[in-house]
Amino acid sequence: MKASILVKKNKNFFIEDVHVGSIIEKFATPSYIYSKQRITDNFKNFEAAFKDIKHLICFAVKANSNLAILNLLAKNGAGFDIVSGGELRRVLAAKGDPRKIVFSGVGKTSEEIKLAIETNILAFNIESEDELSRIQEIAKSLNKKASISIRVNPNVDANTHPYISTGLKENKFGVSEACAFDLYKRAKKFDSISIEGIDCHIGSQITDLKPFEDSIRKLIALVDKLELEGIKIKHMDIGGGIGVSYEDEKTIAFNEYAKVVATLTKDRDIKILLEPGRAIMADAGVIMTKVEYVKKDQVKNFAIIDAAMNDLMRPSLYGAFHKILNVSDTTEKKLNFDIVGPICETGDFIGKDRMMSIEPNNILVILDAGAYAMSMSSNYNSRPRLYELMIDKDKIHVIREKESFDDLIKGERLLLES
Ligand code: LLP
Repeated sequence: MKASILVKKNKNFFIEDVHVGSIIEKFATPSYIYSKQRITDNFKNFEAAFKDIKHLICFAVKANSNLAILNLLAKNGAGFDIVSGGELRRVLAAKGDPRKIVFSGVGKTSEEIKLAIETNILAFNIESEDELSRIQEIAKSLNKKASISIRVNPNVDANTHPYISTGLKENKFGVSEACAFDLYKRAKKFDSISIEGIDCHIGSQITDLKPFEDSIRKLIALVDKLELEGIKIKHMDIGGGIGVSYEDEKTIAFNEYAKVVATLTKDRDIKILLEPGRAIMADAGVIMTKVEYVKKDQVKNFAIIDAAMNDLMRPSLYGAFHKILNVSDTTEKKLNFDIVGPICETGDFIGKDRMMSIEPNNILVILDAGAYAMSMSSNYNSRPRLYELMIDKDKIHVIREKESFDDLIKGERLLLES
């Protein structure tokens, strides 16, 4: 299992070469903290695993869309999987290469489609018949060709949380294989559409190779069928979804995954696209938070921290587990704690039933918060969004300022007296 970015050396905690204490001295808690080294390592390890296969890694921007992070990945050669005009503009602002962008999502608006066509992205991952027609129309009106893949819903069970499972026939994503076959034949007739690839994404936090294997097999069968119709598929986008170890669960090794992909696609002239998000970012980030109060009761003990569900929604939304470490010295004996935020909701918890020694003012570190933490955050309870800090060896870079009260009320107006 991979070590955390938070490393203990002689009773002191470090992220890369920076002492955690020095981060707390300079910046307010709570804050998101990332390790540049870990992001780069994760990306490079993914690249290395697929080195013998023609491939492109399109980082799923929704996992973490901070400009500095996108820029870092772009510099390392990453492409991007986007799901909105906002994400497209972020990638461009971070100097990402438009020719390495794929655009997924069931609800692309006309405005977003127009922007993406004008930007010359690599491919739209089309999720419905209506979307195909709309893209054809818009491309025609712009006098351009739009490159497309059809997102196939292969109806495989990814064995993950139902909220993040996407490849079952009852899910809203993609189209069935039969429908995809018909859509490709329609697309072939459209003069403003250029067929590039085929796509699927079956879910997230997947810890078993079997569902990937099953869905790739189905995609290949369809590619072969299309070939007989004279439709050449140049790339196969197999989506993201590789899980990480939040609670010491066993996960998929990148090279094992690559081996399966290589075996299933050997002897074929097809480029493989991948859309990992979590696997690149999750373990590269933490949230540092302070204990405000400790509340001991006959039935429950609560550690009330200054981070909350608006900063990390995963526990509240999916019952997700994140390791929490106390990096302060404590003398209190270990008790069973619920680690909760100050938000006025019972669902506002970060960890439940943790045997820990905790005192007020202790600093806790929530691990594996580099993916789907900041990107899913909100201002609920009028809480400003946090600093995002990037550690690079012995340096701390502010890659996003903490929000101010003015940021919070930006764009709001009082009603004028009538
Ligand atoms: N591609 C598409 C089309 C996706 O919808 C997603 C994630 C990915 C790639 C990246 O998946 P990953 O490699 O990160 O598993 N908020 C949830 C995760 C939702 C994922 C949504 N789609 C969580 O915090 O667990």
